Amino acid sequence: MSVWHIEGGRRLSGSVAVQGAKNAVLPIMAASVLAPGETELTNVPELRDVDATIRILRGLGCGVERSGDIVRIDSAYIARSEIPHSLMRELRSSVVFLGALLARCCHARLSMPGGCELGPRPIDLHLMALRALGAEIDERAGELICSTPNGLRGAAIALPMPSVGATENAMLCACAAEGETVIMNAAREPEIAELQGFLNALGAGVSGAGSATVRVRGGALRPFRVGHRIMPDRIVSATYLAACAAAGGDVELRGVEPRHFSTVLHSLSECGCDIITTGCSVRLRSAALLRAPMPVITGPYPAFPTDAQPLMLAACLKAKGTSVFVENVFQNRFRFTEELTRLGARIHTEGRVAVVTGVDALHGAPAVATDLRGGAALIIAALSAEGATDILDSGHVERGYERFDERLGELGAEVSLRDK
Ligand code: EPZ
Repeated sequence: MSVWHIEGGRRLSGSVAVQGAKNAVLPIMAASVLAPGETELTNVPELRDVDATIRILRGLGCGVERSGDIVRIDSAYIARSEIPHSLMRELRSSVVFLGALLARCCHARLSMPGGCELGPRPIDLHLMALRALGAEIDERAGELICSTPNGLRGAAIALPMPSVGATENAMLCACAAEGETVIMNAAREPEIAELQGFLNALGAGVSGAGSATVRVRGGALRPFRVGHRIMPDRIVSATYLAACAAAGGDVELRGVEPRHFSTVLHSLSECGCDIITTGCSVRLRSAALLRAPMPVITGPYPAFPTDAQPLMLAACLKAKGTSVFVENVFQNRFRFTEELTRLGARIHTEGRVAVVTGVDALHGAPAVATDLRGGAALIIAALSAEGATDILDSGHVERGYERFDERLGELGAEVSLRDK
């Protein structure tokens, strides 16, 4: 258990190089087992989720070495196709290994990933897609026992909703399916295009990522040696900008892709922030006297990202007027707001809607991080509060933010992270 201690009221200023994207590196590390090969990934963030994925790869029999932001994976030999329950519990998104292991080993065994702090996290769409490709999946006693007795064959897969994880699992498994697979109503997030680029570097034939229809020509993978630089994290980018908007200041992000979070930039601009973008940087200036933006309505990309909803909500706690947030992706993504009210925020939630009434001031208070982005939202609120805040965190924030305390300190914040 850790405690984030934050002395609020300090403006942020300076420049920060944004880390590699957690939600891009995880499926790419799973993809590295698709065929015997050597993978060298750069710009890999130092995160708990990446550490857990490295443990999963080693458990499968891969050689994995890490040196700074470089991770090297040797997938020449896969000893087993099972992921133990302890690792599945630690990282529910490791379900994306299912498609990769079926493609490489023709069988896989892992426990059902649990729900999480955002509400139920079913994987029915993942299983539907893999079954369409020929997988036989037995759901027994909380385990998924999967095999491909008749091999994998290309299929037309129509996703009822553009699930990111189901799209990724289908893409990975389809790489070993004979013939063409068409994934309709595919997720369009930038991380899907990043995965397509990596798969094609392995020799796969993937196209259409970023659109609603992804095509995979299967059966093309051979032993490989590949290098790949992980794209910048668009949600971490949004986090630093929301923190500067809330606390006030002048912050520049380096090595980012502004078009990946243009909806967030638009909302922050509506709040009254000055924003200057180039192809790979964003500079935000804020006097911390914000006004309420137009309603923030989350949805599948390119809509406003659900992961940035808590961050934007925290930035609007003192905005003049009433800010409205509609969460259309997860059922229970407002739990963190209860903790924000401890700092004096005025928030009313009703189902998928949160209404924030701007207050003149927030005051530091003890609080608890409920989840990854909810914890980041609490830190943003604490930075803009008067006085000190202690946030109890069971490791949520460190799952997705690399050296966040150091980076905020370099921008002028007074933040310390200590074990409790
Ligand atoms: C990915 O989760 C991200 N995680 C999430 O980021 C992100 O919030 C989400 O996509 C949406 O953008 C990773 O990439 C590791 P989904 P994923 O499948 O793949 C329902 C963060 O903070 N659904 O697009 O799990 C599901 O319950 C995390 O970095 C089904 O009903 O998201 C949810 O309501 C949080 N059946 C909605 O779809 C399924 O089989 C979106 O889920 C799969 C999903």
